[in-house]
Amino acid sequence: MKTRNLSILLITALMLFVTFSASAQLPNETDAQKAERMKWWTDARFGMFIHWGLYALPARHEWVKNIERMTNEQYQKYFETFNPDMYDPHEWAKMAKAAGMKYVVLTAKHHEGFCLFDSKFTDYKATNTPYGKDLIKEYVEAFRAEGLKVGFYYSLIDWHHPDYTIDSNHPLRQQSDSAYARLNKGRDMSKYREYLKNQVTELLTNYGEISIIWFDFSFPGKNGKGRKDWDSENLLKLARSLQPGIIVDDRLDLSDVPGGFDFISPEQYKVAKWPEINGKRVAWETCQTFSGSWGYYRDETSWKSSAQLIELLVESVSKGGNLLLNVGPTARGVFDYRAQDRLGSMGEWMKYNNRSVYGCTEAPAGLIAPDNTLLTYNPVTNRLYIHLLAYPMGSLVLKGMAEKVKYIQFLHDASEIKFSRGHEGNTGDLELTLPVLKPHSEIPVLEVYLK
Ligand code: GLC
Repeated sequence: MKTRNLSILLITALMLFVTFSASAQLPNETDAQKAERMKWWTDARFGMFIHWGLYALPARHEWVKNIERMTNEQYQKYFETFNPDMYDPHEWAKMAKAAGMKYVVLTAKHHEGFCLFDSKFTDYKATNTPYGKDLIKEYVEAFRAEGLKVGFYYSLIDWHHPDYTIDSNHPLRQQSDSAYARLNKGRDMSKYREYLKNQVTELLTNYGEISIIWFDFSFPGKNGKGRKDWDSENLLKLARSLQPGIIVDDRLDLSDVPGGFDFISPEQYKVAKWPEINGKRVAWETCQTFSGSWGYYRDETSWKSSAQLIELLVESVSKGGNLLLNVGPTARGVFDYRAQDRLGSMGEWMKYNNRSVYGCTEAPAGLIAPDNTLLTYNPVTNRLYIHLLAYPMGSLVLKGMAEKVKYIQFLHDASEIKFSRGHEGNTGDLELTLPVLKPHSEIPVLEVYLK
């Protein structure tokens, strides 16, 4: 009897161990499977980020509650006033599509904790503001109708939830351990973890196919938060189980866990080269603002020019990456005129030049970019794209390309570019004859048919 009991105990223990270790694994994919799952995204290259929340009302940074160290009570006036009467996501979606963007990621909840969706697990949501409706439902439908893939940004950080402990990034951050202890008495992160899972379940169940989720962000260390605080592995497993194809960012603090992220997300800077982890190139996307802050910031004057933004996009593709370009709509629910202007110019450029972006990547090793140009390459069509950032005077030399080129044209109007072999006695080079007058295009592109 005793041995039988013991073996039952052992078997149960073994089963528990197997179940536990299996559940501790994230789904395993080969590199090829992962590349296939992410193919639409790598081909797309260009998406729209949208940061929208109560912070659109103060209109001075989405971190305003933190920067000005506001309490929930002080911040409440924005909740009570929020009424974006001009909100029409169909218009947003049309502008994104016209700009050439193929996917979109909207803040369902940002650090302030306010939910744009009708969550069962909080009262702090759009449906309880004067606006009174679920903003996410309309958003999802509108962007899908324009053929864009739809994603959510969901803040791990929450400056409103009563169980979220005060940390070094909180509006109520403190100086001493004892002050933290005093304020955090009674706050229970395990309840907050449940809240995260419940809300992620809602977002990934109630709105149809969701193609991307951005969890933001971890800051492990003293008075910080990381994977244990969010229960990151299980949160990610939950997301993947509800939306099997979903593409996930790298801010859950799971960088060393296999399957812990899909792409890396350099924020507001240009990478020097295609980023690698352990010697292997990784999928990447840079997220960038028009003017510095993510939420609508009325008085910001540091807006990037259209040429800079187009260059940012091309430059990302030239290193094998994507660009997620952010708009911060106003509290009326519209895109600010400067955002509309920049999106319009990008769209004008993309209309004629998107072949150098979609499906493109870094040029094959050994191809030398002439000065002041950026190269992209489409491996399927075997065409090389030369982006002329500073328009040259009448000619351009392609070093070492004499044997490699079949035909060259301007991309925007498919007009032939003549070329001849050799330059200054160097027969390996090609010399292109360009019109002296810069074509009517912010950044003219040469389309090179390779042999
Ligand atoms: C940072 C900021 C945040 C913004 C995000 C976009 O994490 O906290 O305001 O949403 O970057 O990548």
